[in-house]
Amino acid sequence: MPYHRTTLSAFLIDERRRTPSFDPELAGLIKDVEVACKYIASAISRGKLAETKATTRVNVQGEEQKPLDVIANEMMLQTCDSTEQLLGVVSEEMEGPYPIPGSRSGRYLLVCDPLDGSSNLDLNLTVGTIFSVLRAPEGAGEPKPEHFLQPGISQVAAGFTLYGPSVMLILTLGRGVHGFTLEREVGTFILTHPDMRIPEDTREFAINASNERFWEAPIRHYVEECKLGKSGPRGVDFNMRWVASMVAEVYRILIRGGLFMYPRDAKDPSKPGRLRLLYEANPMSMIVEQAGGASWTGRERILEVKPTALHQRIPVILGSRHEVERLVSYHQAYDRGEELKFKSPLFGNRSIFQS
Ligand code: F6P
Repeated sequence: MPYHRTTLSAFLIDERRRTPSFDPELAGLIKDVEVACKYIASAISRGKLAETKATTRVNVQGEEQKPLDVIANEMMLQTCDSTEQLLGVVSEEMEGPYPIPGSRSGRYLLVCDPLDGSSNLDLNLTVGTIFSVLRAPEGAGEPKPEHFLQPGISQVAAGFTLYGPSVMLILTLGRGVHGFTLEREVGTFILTHPDMRIPEDTREFAINASNERFWEAPIRHYVEECKLGKSGPRGVDFNMRWVASMVAEVYRILIRGGLFMYPRDAKDPSKPGRLRLLYEANPMSMIVEQAGGASWTGRERILEVKPTALHQRIPVILGSRHEVERLVSYHQAYDRGEELKFKSPLFGNRSIFQS
């Protein structure tokens, strides 16, 4: 039995040794988020048994809140209530910022999706928590929405947990991406996946194909090419996956590469995408970039997008660098009005801009 393993606490202490500029207050904050995630993991593993009130509510974005969504949000807030480094929290489940009681001098802001992929809860499939840490503006006082509207490049840390067959915490402090597995009996996260790297090339993509009729031409073209496999212009067969749980998709990409897309579509013109910028796209983009991948809307690097609203939605295309770049080039060609054609032995010459 190896007792010399690196715990998350030891990792954070080492980080202070490795990086003198690393703020010990940030380590304290990460430790509190870790505790909240362990409470959530414990509730998730109990499934229906953890539901105290079986009422289903609707959140600020009109989406159904499962009882465990509400419980996970409470767990995050209550755990962070005494986190003196924090000024306030923005969560998917609340309309505005939650001020940490008695904290007027906290130097950080937490943004989180306490339970991502919760439509998978009833199916006993993997869900997770996504979080992002931002600096609070100096002398901010009460946390206000505009304090949180910072581009993703301003994040000082980001991470997510996976509540699956094992519980995992994936963390970046801006110097690589590291994965920890929960040793349940001891209640400690152990470093099991140091320095995770996303392969630049992949033959696997993930997209909700039921939205195909709403996609823009560059996405339709890309997916069509992949589906043609060996007989198409790519000359290789592709595999497709869709878990409908972003945490599980991004974890798979960190392990073996791949491309994840929830692109702009015409399903609901009031929504430019499905996923939320502040607590889904930004933290995942920081993680993916820190692991050597890329993350774009198709037209912009997500980390450079200036947010305008707390619950803003955005198109997301992330994963293995070369495939993301290919998709960005398709968007550029489309926006220049070029007619991108591909040759298929099965179908002859076809244009992507003809429907
Ligand atoms: O935003 C929540 C989420 O569950 C993501 O985790 C996931 O990628 C996506 O929604 C799934 O959406 P859909 O149900 O449209 O496939």
